[in-house]
Amino acid sequence: MENSQDHFEVLRRIEKEPETTQRKLAKDLGFSLGKLNYCLKALKNKGFIKTRNFKKNPNKINYFYVLTPRGISEKTKLTFNFMKRKMKEYDELKNELNESDIAGLKGNNYGFVGRLSKKFPSQVMVDLTEVCNLACIHCTHPEFKLSTVYGKRMLDPKFNKKMIEEVSTIGKGFTKYIRYTSNGEPLVHPKSYEMIQDAVENSGTKVTLTTNGTLLNEKRMFKILKTGLHMIDISTDAASNETYKKIRVGGDLDVTKSNILKLIKLREEAKSKTKIIVSFVEQKENTHEVEDFKRYWESKNVDEVLIRRLHSNSGSNLQDKEKTESNQGNRKPCLYPWERVILNARGKLAFCPTDWYAKSELCSYENNSIEEVWKNTFYKDLRNQHLTCNFSNKFCKQCPDWKNTSWPFDKNKSYADLVEKILYKEIS
Ligand SMILES: C[S@@+](CC[C@H](N)C(=O)[O-])C[C@H]1O[C@@H](n2cnc3c(N)ncnc32)[C@H](O)[C@@H]1O
Ligand code: SF4
Repeated sequence: MENSQDHFEVLRRIEKEPETTQRKLAKDLGFSLGKLNYCLKALKNKGFIKTRNFKKNPNKINYFYVLTPRGISEKTKLTFNFMKRKMKEYDELKNELNESDIAGLKGNNYGFVGRLSKKFPSQVMVDLTEVCNLACIHCTHPEFKLSTVYGKRMLDPKFNKKMIEEVSTIGKGFTKYIRYTSNGEPLVHPKSYEMIQDAVENSGTKVTLTTNGTLLNEKRMFKILKTGLHMIDISTDAASNETYKKIRVGGDLDVTKSNILKLIKLREEAKSKTKIIVSFVEQKENTHEVEDFKRYWESKNVDEVLIRRLHSNSGSNLQDKEKTESNQGNRKPCLYPWERVILNARGKLAFCPTDWYAKSELCSYENNSIEEVWKNTFYKDLRNQHLTCNFSNKFCKQCPDWKNTSWPFDKNKSYADLVEKILYKEIS
């Protein structure tokens, strides 16, 4: 590469100014005399230039160099390569500028800030399955189950292995946590415990699990605590069984509650370090129970009581009219393209965590890596579009859930802030 750059510069100069001394040529090009001599010899040997005698030159130059026809064609080739390289450099610089600076220039900080890194996603989300034992009203699962996309899929453990390998090497220091969840209930996957344990032992980062907690009998509780999982997040959504049954259709709060209380007790007995949090997605059916829910669980030995905002599952829970209405206003970039990659139960990588219909899928994980995808043109373009308020991506265009994403500098705290607070506070 360096050689061809030198050759290119020498050929260009000679063509422009054949009547020159080696000393002047070296000075103009910023080369040492030795380096120039070496270059001229190489070009001569390849037949790209030849020396002509020029005895009567008033400037007392006895000979000069001219380009041969092969030299001219070589120069054209090198010029072309040079331009190609420069254009690539230009595009890369432009992308970098767009990703981190353009938004900054506009007076905000959107881009790779704080825990977010352009090297590797700070969060890797793993959807273990499409199968679920409940039919919650705020969730897309009941509708998804009736669609042609639904296939009762279970993640092939080989993809989990591949992900762990990537996170522990290339993602080391960048991925703050692996979050096991699902387009269904993760603990339905027969290998869920083994896959989680593998991640805890070998990924080199924190591991969390989001579950409805309904399938946790005593034996499974021991199994889950034995994995060394760093945090379990149990979706509960109600303070009374009446409300629970309305929201978490097919479930029973008495069972879920007793499972959580039992898990807390077993954790103590086993001296396990797994953090336990209970969560509640606030919606019109349960908003009157928020305070009761908080009061009850705060009196138990849980590490956090999390009240979540309702989102639309990237528009799929809304009618077209509602979608348009809720997508009004000054739109800001959505956090997800800077934060995470999703490995779904189909073995595909995707960019949106609330996509149920594979519309944000990027590629198969079989033949690609998270690193490649994270740095590829699609992601770069998507980020640049969001930063320049261009929301033309077909999937993003119709989604109002960007409103619910919280950047590291936002006042509203995100799930990643919670993980940082709970799992990293002891370290910092
Ligand atoms: C899709 S579920 C999968 C894991 C598991 N089945 C569970 O219920 O926890 C993951 C989380 O997304 C939440 N969720 C589903 N639909 C939602 C919505 N429209 N708004 C906010 N959170 C939602 C669930 O309540 C749950 O906490
Ligand atoms: S929220 Fe979880 S438990 Fe409820 S239907 Fe969705 S995937 Fe199933």
